Amino acid sequence: MRTEKRISMINVAVLGYGTVGSGVVEVLTTNSDSIAKRAGDTINIKYVLDLRDFPGEPIEKVLVHDFDTIINDDEIDIVIEAMGGTEPAYTFAKASLERGKSYCTSNKELVAKYGPELLELAKEKGKNFLFEASVGGGIPIIRPLNQSLTADEIMEITGILNGTTNFILTKMSKEGLTFDEVLKEAQELGYAERNPAADVEGYDACRKIAILSSLAYGKHVDYEEIYTEGITKITDTDFKYGEKLGLTIKLFGKSKRVGDKFYAMVAPFMISSDNPLYSVNDVLNGILVKGNVIGDVMFYGAGAGKLPTASAVVADVVDAAKHIKTNIMTLWSSKKLNLDDIKNSEKRFFVRLKGDAKERETELKEIFGDIKVITLDDVKGEFGVITPVMSEAKYEEAASKASGIITRIRVESV
Ligand code: HSE
Repeated sequence: MRTEKRISMINVAVLGYGTVGSGVVEVLTTNSDSIAKRAGDTINIKYVLDLRDFPGEPIEKVLVHDFDTIINDDEIDIVIEAMGGTEPAYTFAKASLERGKSYCTSNKELVAKYGPELLELAKEKGKNFLFEASVGGGIPIIRPLNQSLTADEIMEITGILNGTTNFILTKMSKEGLTFDEVLKEAQELGYAERNPAADVEGYDACRKIAILSSLAYGKHVDYEEIYTEGITKITDTDFKYGEKLGLTIKLFGKSKRVGDKFYAMVAPFMISSDNPLYSVNDVLNGILVKGNVIGDVMFYGAGAGKLPTASAVVADVVDAAKHIKTNIMTLWSSKKLNLDDIKNSEKRFFVRLKGDAKERETELKEIFGDIKVITLDDVKGEFGVITPVMSEAKYEEAASKASGIITRIRVESV
């Protein structure tokens, strides 16, 4: 009988046996006893869904190729999805919740696009839609935002939210390797997205800051409205200037409340060693949250990879098992949060220009104001400047008057 089954077992189905899905199976198997104690029930993997066959592997006996087997099985309590992409994940998530099954996912595309709708459906059905692994890999950040930082108004979030790009930037900075060499290594280690543009163009970080901002500010932040710039234009020369200035380069996802306005963006930033995110290296992620009561809180850990991500997914499974008949409230309304144009946000800019620093200093002071000039002994025919704090709009206006700009990178002042 169903009530008797509840006492001894929670049945789950894992959708996708790739990097994360196989990690979930490994974690549920390796730590089954401690997980059962924490969940209050044994977690039984009844099905694994994948299009491929895995002859000789232990999951072979639970492998199915058809989602209908899972959705039509009333014994399945929790569906775990690690496929990525919005389809068929959205169809599967909706169907699962509608049939009274909780849904735990690492899929940031799904959460960023359909989060409010699926949360609402879960609430209606008294089930749960959980997505701890969608941001920050193994780092607990969704649950803290939902359940711990509830006394605060969140004022600002700054995160290194993409493990692949942080791995690439760290290797470029410390080992002088080229972009392509390091990307290949990140792919081999299982960090990178199937389409590497999602990582290196900043799209992945964009979805993640949209998810965090929606939870922090309580209204839906549309990722498609977030200004997003990736790391493809960053070169080893930029790191050389950075080194001379005592700065390194990190890809940040940021959002900020200023009065009644909200800004969000993804872009590479030059940061100094005073910044708590300076030492977040390799595949690690760091997320700095500023609350109006608590001040700064930082979350740090493995941002990608099989087992760290699986750890966060399984933590959701434990939570879903503990709340098998109760919806865990999440403050993420479908009402849209209007983002202000980042052109009004202020910061310093590092600019590389062609020519001779001495010859151009006066001209550039007239254009940008009180600049700091940097030259490198081994880089000829160009130099760098750091501008005073100015709005993005003012910078654009000034930059249009300066000839020979090679590149510009935003500078994060602490
Ligand atoms: N490609 C992602 C990253 C995976 O590198 O952070 C984790 O979301």
